[in-house]
Amino acid sequence: MNFKKQIFGFMDMLRFKKLVPNRRAALEAGSPEPLPRDYRVNQQARRLHPGMMEVELTAVRVLVPGMTELTFKRLDGDAFPFFRAGQYVSLQAPVGDSLVSRPYSIVSSPRQALENVLTLGVADAGFFSGWLNREVKPGDRFRMSEPSGEFHYETLRDKKQIVCIAGGAGITPFISMARSMAEGDESYEMLLFYGARDEAHLAYKAELDALTRKGLRVVYVLSDEEKPGFEHGFVSAALLEKYVDVHNATFFLCGPKAMYDFVGAQLAPYGLPVKAIRRDATCCGDLTLDAPRCFKLTVHIRDKVYTLDAAENETLLTAMERAGVPAPSKCRAGGCGYCHSKWLGGEFRIADGRDGRREADRKFGFVHPCVTYPLSDMEIEVPAAE
Ligand code: FES
Repeated sequence: MNFKKQIFGFMDMLRFKKLVPNRRAALEAGSPEPLPRDYRVNQQARRLHPGMMEVELTAVRVLVPGMTELTFKRLDGDAFPFFRAGQYVSLQAPVGDSLVSRPYSIVSSPRQALENVLTLGVADAGFFSGWLNREVKPGDRFRMSEPSGEFHYETLRDKKQIVCIAGGAGITPFISMARSMAEGDESYEMLLFYGARDEAHLAYKAELDALTRKGLRVVYVLSDEEKPGFEHGFVSAALLEKYVDVHNATFFLCGPKAMYDFVGAQLAPYGLPVKAIRRDATCCGDLTLDAPRCFKLTVHIRDKVYTLDAAENETLLTAMERAGVPAPSKCRAGGCGYCHSKWLGGEFRIADGRDGRREADRKFGFVHPCVTYPLSDMEIEVPAAE
């Protein structure tokens, strides 16, 4: 044993003795060319995560009453980054004196992104979406975030059979998911329940019918109209059981809150694990208050200080955007952490069920302005937007 140790010790000594001459020889044999500043891995990382992109609107198409499709290309000519079907981008533009941004699910497929094509479906609901539906035209320019979001299929977590339930404009992420499956980029089997008032309000019906020839199963559910070939009513447990084994599927829901509440109640008796029911996050909007008070909000961004009005019923992010303050945002639902800001003073409340902060954030006084409402004058320090 000791003898072995001595041998190894001796060999180590020899190696150590040759260390410097070996290193010199390696340096002399090396290329005199300087090391590249930009490695392939850096270029790939930039392709996948370009941050904010300058984009131009190339086409506008009315889908159904109150819903428009907008198609974009990147101005620098690069392709859009490949993304996971179901993800969203945040679109930003100045509207009047405000700098506004909103997240929209991507409708086009990840493969189309590589051809510099990215499409969004926008329902005419709210300030920015209404403006997009009525005012924009091809050639208009915007800023767009890179694709983000957790509302997508995950092989290790989700069942192979996915059941997607869309209400109204909530169809948009599922168009991308169906296209991605048809193009062979996703391995799931997709059954889509698409609920609308009547057939005239089913956006993308022709595209969905075409996708049924490539493996998609669609069940149209009309609440106000009875027609052969369509289910009537709402997506109830009985309707689900007619088409799928509820215990052997992962559910993806996208639509209005009323739909989440209804479908959630229908699925509750099955006792499915939390991970089996995925809901797309919706933006945090204004609160309904009888007589909302108005407070002063002081915002620090780097060396600039802004003082503005903030109403009790609107989020700090909305107040900043209304005042033209360049505040960062992506999901507007408290989930992505992109607007993560330091609280410096004042009382506030956070929207129910939207507090996505980590324990450390709560302890050290950070807030997400997209889901935070003022209850007094407030002061916050916001990271600079890109
Ligand atoms: S924008 Fe995503 S957490 Fe605020």
